[in-house]
Order: sequence, then structure tokens, then C-alpha cells
Amino acid sequence: MPATCVVGLQWGDEAKGKIVDILGDKHDFVVRYNGGANAGHTVVWGDRKFALSLLPTGVLKPHVKSVIGNGVVVYPPRFIEEVEKLRSGGVSVGANLVVSEHAHTIFPYHMEEERLAEADGDGKIGTTGRGIGPCYQDKVGRRFGVRVGELLHPKHLRERLNYIVPFKNRILAAFGIGAKAFDANQLCDEYLGYAEFLKPHVADTPKLLNDALAAGKNILFEAAQGSLLDIDHGTFPYVTSSSSLPSGIWPGSGVPARAVSRIIGILKAYTTRVGRGPFPTELDDGPDGIGNRIRTIGREFGTVTGRPRRVGWFDAVAARYTATLADVDVISIMLLDVLSGLKELKICTAYELDGERITHFPSDSFRLERCKPVLETVPGWSEDITTARKLADLPAAARNYVDRIAGILGKKVAFVSVGPDRDQTIVP
Ligand code: IMP
Repeated sequence: MPATCVVGLQWGDEAKGKIVDILGDKHDFVVRYNGGANAGHTVVWGDRKFALSLLPTGVLKPHVKSVIGNGVVVYPPRFIEEVEKLRSGGVSVGANLVVSEHAHTIFPYHMEEERLAEADGDGKIGTTGRGIGPCYQDKVGRRFGVRVGELLHPKHLRERLNYIVPFKNRILAAFGIGAKAFDANQLCDEYLGYAEFLKPHVADTPKLLNDALAAGKNILFEAAQGSLLDIDHGTFPYVTSSSSLPSGIWPGSGVPARAVSRIIGILKAYTTRVGRGPFPTELDDGPDGIGNRIRTIGREFGTVTGRPRRVGWFDAVAARYTATLADVDVISIMLLDVLSGLKELKICTAYELDGERITHFPSDSFRLERCKPVLETVPGWSEDITTARKLADLPAAARNYVDRIAGILGKKVAFVSVGPDRDQTIVP
């Protein structure tokens, strides 16, 4: 079992961090291949809670090597902040944390560009404001991108920033709404300071990972965001700017796809989404409604931005679509305990689009917006299930709910999560 991938099958926040944490012990490497500090991974160990947005969840285990792959975009101040926070919390971080020299660097002008673009009501995507999109634009546009490895070469970095920053200032000013301007030399000095901190962690990670595979080591890939936020297959344009599906592993880490032999799809027992975009099963039913109840019990507020997440019923049409694209072997159903106490639950099994019933997922946002969910009603349960450790401990209705989801997707269930702690997990 050389390489495994844990991937979210909804719009992110599926509690992937918990499964990566559980599986991490069995792996020598935990690797992130996409996104940046827009991700929010929460890991709970008893009364200790760790919230990471840029570092791989594996970093909590000093015996595991954690790798930020070349497909990730890195904001150095955030990297330093997360490392220092872990160290002050007693977690040892040193040679176990590696960053690809080819990961791209986020600068403050990326965040400024995002702020200005998001201020335009019509063009608003509802991003996390972390400079992710503009940094990936510069990577793909080639002219203005700066890789992490370039920060280690002072003369070269200064030349690059003296070329890039004047262009950036003109682009920012063109937004015409109080844009900040940046000084290339000041930025260079600031980033050279960060480079000192980063230096011991920077490496040729495709070589590191391929050598590790050749030596029989095990790698766990940790996708950031969810498959419905994938730049190509998600609900464009309300997506993130990277490949969150496992298809991002090869370009984003240098590990060939054929090395990945197990893909675990992570699903919440319901659906959430942050930011704008269509959401057919959304429960927009007011402060006393079921949506708000799930949001409160499930603590559905963004790890990165604190924004309340939009909440809805489980969407099996969307999950079938992403389970196929992600080629998952098994699924994990998370936060099942949050649904306890609801008399009945609903599962979306089809959509009605312009009067026609469809069972495939139209990923174009402008069509998905017109989809109405076709909901199947199933019985809920009233029991507290947070102490269940085997499927047999669950009330029949909860077991039926899990079976129904697995049945619709045609996938075996690898984990059922009934609480935030790692012990609160059923392995059927
Ligand atoms: P960006 O990734 O900051 O550009 O934001 C693009 C969209 O992806 C927005 O709707 C964000 O709310 C969403 N998004 C980005 N990262 C995450 C995540 O880790 N969980 C959930 N949504 C996310």
C-alpha cells in the first residue's frame, strides 16, 4: 500500500483532518499537494485542539515527514506563525517538515488583488482572502510567479521583485478603488527575513517522495478543500484555484498517479459550503430551522475565516459525481452524531432541472443554480451516538442512514465518525 489519498467529496470541511490524523501513524510521509492557507484542518486530541491552515496535518506527529508539495501556494508569515504556535504548544517541528522549492510564494500584493476583486459585488466568489487565486494566476501566467526556492537567492529575488512589483502596482491601481501600493525593496527585505526561517525546510520534494517510494515507504496524500471546489470539475467559477481532486497529486507533488493505490473519499453526513455558489440542498430555513440547528451542533463556522457555513441535506447526486471523479475505493461518513435528535432526514437522490428529472450532476454553476433537489425521506434517531464504537452500537435508523448513503454511492464504508475525538470513530 505505497500511497493513499484522503479527499473530501463535498465543498470542503468534511473533517478530513481527523482521518489523516488516524491514518498518519501508519505512514512515513503526509503530503499536501494543493491549496494554501485557505484550508482549515482541525485535529482534536482529548482536550487539545489544533487548527492548521497551511501545514499538513501530519506535522502533529514528529516521527512522520510532512511535505508541502510543489502544487501548494505558501504564505511565509503564515508558515512561520503555524510552526511557532505548534512549538509553543509542545509539538516538536524541525526536519520533519519539508517544503517544496517549487511551491509558489504568496505576497501581500496577491491578497490586495483579491481584496479589490472581491469588493466588486458582481465578480465576488466569496474567497478566503488568503491570496490563493492571484498567486495561482501568477504561477500559470509564469511572468510574475516566485517559487519558494527563489527566496533563498537574495540578489535574484531582489531583481525579480523589482521587475514584478511595478507591474503589480499598476494592476492594483487599475482597480481604481483605493488600492495599496508596494515597495519592491522593502518587500524583498521582509521576504529575505522569512527565507532564513524557511531555509532548513526547503527541499526537492518530488525527488524526496519518489526516493521514499522506491525505498518502500508509505505516503499519505491530504487533499485540501473538497472535490466540488476543484478548479476543473467543481462548480466553476465558485471554486478554488487548484486541483483538489486526487488528479492534483501528480502535478502537485511529482508522485505518479499509479503509485496511489487507495483513495478514501470523505463525506459529511450532511452538506456544507462556505462562500458563494449554487447549493441545491441548502436548508435556508431561518434561525429556528434545521439548517441553523445543524450549524450550531456541528460548529459549522469556517476554521480559516470564522464565516458561518451554509448547511444542507446530504446530496447524493453531487457525492456520486465526485466519488466517480476521485475514483474512491471507500468512503468515510463524518459528523453523523450532529444529526441525532432529528425526527426525519432527507437525502437528495436526483434533481429537477427545467422540469426534467436528472440524476447526473451539472457542474456548471449557472445550470446547477436552477436545480431543485428531489429528496427521499428516511427516519432519524433520537439517541446520543457519540459513545458508539461499532456499527452495532448505533440505533437502527442511524445504521440505515449510513447503509443508504453507501448503497447509493456503491462504496464500502471505511470509517463512521460520531464525534470530534479520534476515539469517536467506528471502523466497520
Ligand atoms: P479561495 O480558495 O480562498 O480562493 O476561495 C474559493 C472558494 O473556496 C470560496 O468559496 C471559499 O470559501 C472556498 N474554500 C477555500 N478553501 C476552503 C476550505 O478549506 N474549506 C471550504 N471551503 C473552502
